[in-house]
Amino acid sequence: MKAVRIHEHGGPEVLRYEEVPLPEPGRGEARIQVEAAGVNFTDIYNRIGLYKLTLPCTLGSEAAGTVDAVGPEVTEVKPGDRVAYAMHLGAYAEYVVVPAWRLVPLPPAIDGRTAAAVILQGMTVHYLTHSTYPLKPGETVLVHAAAGGVGRLLVQVAKRLGARVIGTVSSEEKARLAREAGADEVILYTKEDFEEAVKRATGGRGVDVVYDSVGKTTAEKSLNCLRPRGYLVLFGNASGAAPPIDPLTLMAKGSLYLTRPTLTHYAGNRAELLQRARVVFDWVASEQVKVRIAKTFPLAEAAEAHRALEGRGVAGKILLLP
Ligand SMILES: NC(=O)c1ccc[n+]([C@@H]2O[C@H](COP(=O)([O-])OP(=O)(O)OC[C@H]3O[C@@H](n4cnc5c(N)ncnc54)[C@H](OP(=O)(O)O)[C@@H]3O)[C@@H](O)[C@H]2O)c1
Repeated sequence: MKAVRIHEHGGPEVLRYEEVPLPEPGRGEARIQVEAAGVNFTDIYNRIGLYKLTLPCTLGSEAAGTVDAVGPEVTEVKPGDRVAYAMHLGAYAEYVVVPAWRLVPLPPAIDGRTAAAVILQGMTVHYLTHSTYPLKPGETVLVHAAAGGVGRLLVQVAKRLGARVIGTVSSEEKARLAREAGADEVILYTKEDFEEAVKRATGGRGVDVVYDSVGKTTAEKSLNCLRPRGYLVLFGNASGAAPPIDPLTLMAKGSLYLTRPTLTHYAGNRAELLQRARVVFDWVASEQVKVRIAKTFPLAEAAEAHRALEGRGVAGKILLLP
């Protein structure tokens, strides 16, 4: 079968489209024939070596497709089932073997491409808004990269929960998309100081929570955007890893809270995974949340897909199609 692997860390050019043996499912595992694989910023962190991997390695942490074979002691799925999963490496391939407990059966209303576009980012938005910092009506939230894959979903869900949403983006076109998703105010953080803009928009009070996936270029200023006892939820590193933050800084800036969550720990068992995925698929099926598939690439062009995501020119989800 064909797969996209890396043999060393580096730029998009290290992605190799190559022939590899068809993997066999072991105990508790299932093999999926991949219909679509989601491209996520996590894949870039894996490629550049920000997150540690054993090499060589097939990239990709999210896919949807059909169960093709199961190993011994699999009870969760059977061959022929339509499924999706997140947070297991190997999705940039024609077939992927995944622990069966991680597989979520697809409801009839959800097609494979939509599932591959939403399962990872949708469950992320669910845990960020319902578990890490449960948003309440009337609260004000700052969402960085508000037109991105996670960002657009986050804006939509925060609005549904009754929050006032301030978003940051890098271009006028992305500002339009963030507003279309429901953002009440949008700041072009490449042109304007977002800290000053947030202070202005909140009458100097600050926001209740900042969802910050940009990291290096935003984290310190994000702290300055919070009300006393506000929450900085730092959940990504799109611009690079955030600098270390001294606990005394949290005290000085208003007894603030800082957390650095990952989906791995918020969908760590089958019950929690199925519960989050069910809510996400319900949002999509009932059109409470709209998924924007911005671009698809053939699997062989994974390097182009990475260039598109890193280049900030794409707003929404990128898929790879084997
Ligand atoms: N912790 C978790 O559980 C979890 C799970 C999923 C995703 N994430 C994180 O969520 C974030 C969004 O992921 P995504 O896959 O949906 O990507 P995305 O938001 O579609 O793309 C990242 C966005 O970050 C912004 N950005 C700011 N500075 C950047 C820079 N120097 N280089 C590139 N982009 C920059 C860009 O938006 P502008 O052009 O508008 O600035 C870009 O579109 C990532 O940080 C990812 O790691 C975390």
